[in-house]
Amino acid sequence: MVKLFLLTCSLFVSSTAAATLTDCVGNLSSDADYVIVGGGPAGLVLAERLSRNGQNSVILLEAGPETFNSTLLNTPAYFPFIAQPLWNFTAEPDHSLGGISPLIPQGRVLGGGTAVNGMAYCRGAASVFDEWASISGNEGLSSLSLFQDFLEVSHYTDPPAADYEQYVNLELYGNGPLEISRSSGMVGYEAAFSKAVQSQLGLREADLNGIGIGIDRGVSSVFARNRTRSYAGNTFAPLLSARPNVQVLCNAWANKIGFSGTRAINVTYQSNGGAFTINGKEIIISAGAINTPKLLMLSGVGSRDELNRLGIPVVAHRPEIGSNLRDHALSIVQLLVAPEVITVWQWAQNSTEAPLIQNEYITNASGPLGWTDGFVFATFRVPDSVFEGLNSTHFTSLPKDRPHILIQLTTTPFIPTVNSSAVTAWASLVQPEATGRVTLKSSNYQDDPKISTNWYGTAADKAAITWGYKQLREVLNREPLQKLITQEVFPGPGVTSDQDIWAAIQKQTYSFRHPVGTVAIGTALDSNWRLRGLEGIRVVDSSTFPFPTTCHPQSVVYALADRAGKDILEADSGSHYTIRDINSQFQF
Ligand SMILES: Cc1cc2nc3c(=O)[nH]c(=O)nc-3n(C[C@H](O)[C@H](O)[C@H](O)COP(=O)(O)OP(=O)(O)OC[C@H]3O[C@@H](n4cnc5c(N)ncnc54)[C@H](O)[C@@H]3O)c2cc1C
Ligand SMILES: *[C@@H]1O[C@H](CO)[C@@H](O)[C@H](O)[C@H]1NC(C)=O
Ligand SMILES: *[C@@H]1O[C@H](CO)[C@@H](O)[C@H](O)[C@H]1NC(C)=O
Ligand SMILES: *[C@@H]1O[C@H](CO)[C@@H](O)[C@H](O)[C@H]1NC(C)=O
Ligand SMILES: *[C@@H]1O[C@H](CO)[C@@H](O)[C@H](O)[C@H]1NC(C)=O
Ligand SMILES: *[C@@H]1O[C@H](CO)[C@@H](O)[C@H](O)[C@H]1NC(C)=O
Ligand SMILES: *[C@@H]1O[C@H](CO)[C@@H](O)[C@H](O)[C@H]1NC(C)=O
Ligand SMILES: *[C@@H]1O[C@H](CO)[C@@H](O)[C@H](O)[C@H]1NC(C)=O
Ligand SMILES: *[C@@H]1O[C@H](CO)[C@@H](O)[C@H](O)[C@H]1NC(C)=O
Repeated sequence: MVKLFLLTCSLFVSSTAAATLTDCVGNLSSDADYVIVGGGPAGLVLAERLSRNGQNSVILLEAGPETFNSTLLNTPAYFPFIAQPLWNFTAEPDHSLGGISPLIPQGRVLGGGTAVNGMAYCRGAASVFDEWASISGNEGLSSLSLFQDFLEVSHYTDPPAADYEQYVNLELYGNGPLEISRSSGMVGYEAAFSKAVQSQLGLREADLNGIGIGIDRGVSSVFARNRTRSYAGNTFAPLLSARPNVQVLCNAWANKIGFSGTRAINVTYQSNGGAFTINGKEIIISAGAINTPKLLMLSGVGSRDELNRLGIPVVAHRPEIGSNLRDHALSIVQLLVAPEVITVWQWAQNSTEAPLIQNEYITNASGPLGWTDGFVFATFRVPDSVFEGLNSTHFTSLPKDRPHILIQLTTTPFIPTVNSSAVTAWASLVQPEATGRVTLKSSNYQDDPKISTNWYGTAADKAAITWGYKQLREVLNREPLQKLITQEVFPGPGVTSDQDIWAAIQKQTYSFRHPVGTVAIGTALDSNWRLRGLEGIRVVDSSTFPFPTTCHPQSVVYALADRAGKDILEADSGSHYTIRDINSQFQF
């Protein structure tokens, strides 16, 4: 027993953890009160919450490794260069986009998406959470209630030497493990962007963690002082390492939930070439919006016809599993900028600048490498008149605090450029009407699922993004921003008609990597996160969002998992598998 615990602990403290971990996983066969599948922000927050009392035994399975290249992981400005460890999903050709196949990478490592994401931290419009509460019958999701969870998962620390002013509402942050900060410097276009948006759209600077609509210079999950990534893997996971009632297993890819009738009783996972099974009193899937529906379908929970076609025995006919997929699709404008804007090109490729910038970061933990890619953004509504004559009240009927469009600037060029300093700006539809779907391509757990995006898939979506894209270009043409831009590379000044703009949008649209909704609370789940019609199985992660939030979603995943943990503890009582029960199952 003691030996096992040391091995598990070493996962977090030893630099040679990978080998130790593989051994540990290879010998596991066990029972736990809660078996959690997926070590992203949802799975880790949940494991922390459920194990906090020292009584509940928790085993968490993560398909990816414990960590990866620490330079790429920790350095905020390097995040666009993270090419692994990822689930490198490619969606089906999207017909509303003229047949392009969007890439939708997802994090595949302890920490999930938070280990590889862009670190923007934003809650957005409060009416989203009130609507979720009303759809699901879970009052804990209402904005007032969920606000408590936001306070409990993160805290804000101002950087010691920021050389500019920013509106941050300190009342919106609490004292939880995740550190939130802001940039300690400016890449050069932030103030100009703000002024241009004010003059084009009449918006004001705000902290969009508190309200839905406005201009935000961005707060992010970065440690204020050493300017490194703060994420679920280095804030929540370490809390678990001190608890003997928790086991965190990496390189453990769950491929099937075992059901006895309609009750989920065990999880089978693949590790190091072998298959292993754990029994759980309660099984909680937190594998993210693509992998969660995939695992459920592989286990026989999904559309009967589709499962039959693949020869998967049907446990429950639940056609809603995998449906209702939404993302924040984004459509780009690429620009070349004046030398005073500090872009990726300067710190990564300009042979004069790059070594100086790297040295500054290594020596003093300051400078552009510690900033998150120069992101600034603004959110706003599309006027009702844009939807006149269209058969949809989707956008016009959303509560007034709810933006439709988010525009953002970053210093990373989406279209590769050589020897030029480029910036990418985009417009994103944050409350889309159309939905896509995740289904299986085969019954082999190693095959990627089939993802149908259906972005801008209704006439109203198309009208909204077209209007938003045109507004973005108007903003870019406003002073003082315009004088920092030397050339519009894409779509180019010749593209002005609605028809040409739509064609440009179809060519250069990407996933914001914010998929949600595929196992939504209120439809697929009951108000306490249980899969309807089944017992002993819950889902808690980004797939449970009924629809997207109005900005970057990670803050909400942390808070939602914290809330779900409370809900589950309240509902579940009774006897526990003890620590001894867990450990006695190991054979060394
Ligand atoms: C490149 C990128 C950039 C992003 N940028 C931002 C941003 O700037 N701001 C923001 O707010 N959000 C951003 N996001 C989104 C945000 O990171 C996600 O919304 C969030 O991580 C979702 O959390 P989750 O716990 O639901 O799922 P995930 O974070 O995806 O975690 C799921 C975990 O489960 C594991 N898993 C999956 N299947 C299995 C299985 N069968 N067995 C075992 N383990 C499994 C995965 O490996 C993963 O670690 C970004 C995401 C990506 C990928
Ligand atoms: C980690 O990534 C950095 C930046 O890409 C690279 O220079 C370095 O060689 C990598 N380290 C390892 C151990 O692969
Ligand atoms: C991801 O998939 C795309 C398209 O299939 C491919 O071009 C790219 O090389 C892949 N990336 C990795 C890291 O495997
Ligand atoms: C950065 O600082 C935080 C706390 O201030 C610490 O937990 C973390 O380990 C540090 N990261 C690195 C890479 O030094
Ligand atoms: C897991 O549960 C299934 C369904 O009840 C059962 O058939 C299988 O034998 C179980 N696996 C193990 C290893 O206990
Ligand atoms: C590269 O950096 C140097 C030093 O700051 C600068 O003078 C030069 O203009 C940069 N090159 C380009 C093409 O921006
Ligand atoms: C680090 O900071 C000190 C004190 O401000 C400064 O003198 C020094 O030049 C900095 N070093 C680098 C490499 O930026
Ligand atoms: C308008 O939309 C509704 C529901 O989306 C549909 O039932 C109806 O047929 C549509 N009407 C027209 C004229 O397209
Ligand atoms: C980029 O600039 C460098 C230095 O001026 C030059 O040596 C190199 O050939 C250029 N590359 C291209 C593809 O133009």
